[in-house]
Amino acid sequence: MKAVNVLFVCLGNICRSPTAEGVFQYLVNQGQLEEDIHVDSAGTGDWHIGRPPDHRSQQAARQRGYVLEHLRARQVTANDFNHFQYILAMDRKNLAYLEAMRPDWYCGRLELLLNYGRDSTQIDVPDPFYGGENGFAQVLDLIESAATGLLEEIILRDLVNSR
Ligand code: 4NP
Repeated sequence: MKAVNVLFVCLGNICRSPTAEGVFQYLVNQGQLEEDIHVDSAGTGDWHIGRPPDHRSQQAARQRGYVLEHLRARQVTANDFNHFQYILAMDRKNLAYLEAMRPDWYCGRLELLLNYGRDSTQIDVPDPFYGGENGFAQVLDLIESAATGLLEEIILRDLVNSR
């Protein structure tokens, strides 16, 4: 079976999207689905290319058992639309950037990550970069909820009946 490829996208690829990558990878590993679901993250901006996640994101994630230290920031590319069936933006600004890049033929899911969250009033994962420590815990709360919903959706839509 071909793997389902999932890309999380934020602005810098050092706070929100690497957190989503780490949390979702953890769930994929727990479900022993590493061969079926491949996970990556990228930023729409280029300022932090090659850098590890922000130490505040790493610390907040570590407190909940997620490891982010091996991740390195990269910028989203046109080729990502060839590879990823799910491209999930952290907020509406980054979604708009991706919509402008989207080729006409792309028939994967390009949408907001929080479409899969339990709290339907929260649309964006707020950018925690210039805020306080609490912002990083809030990012994790939102991402954990949506990552669980996303995994359920992928299992039902892409994995059940295709093995
Ligand atoms: P992220 O957070 O998009 O969640 O990685 C940010 C990181 C860096 C900047 C903005 C947001 N920045 O302006 O450098």
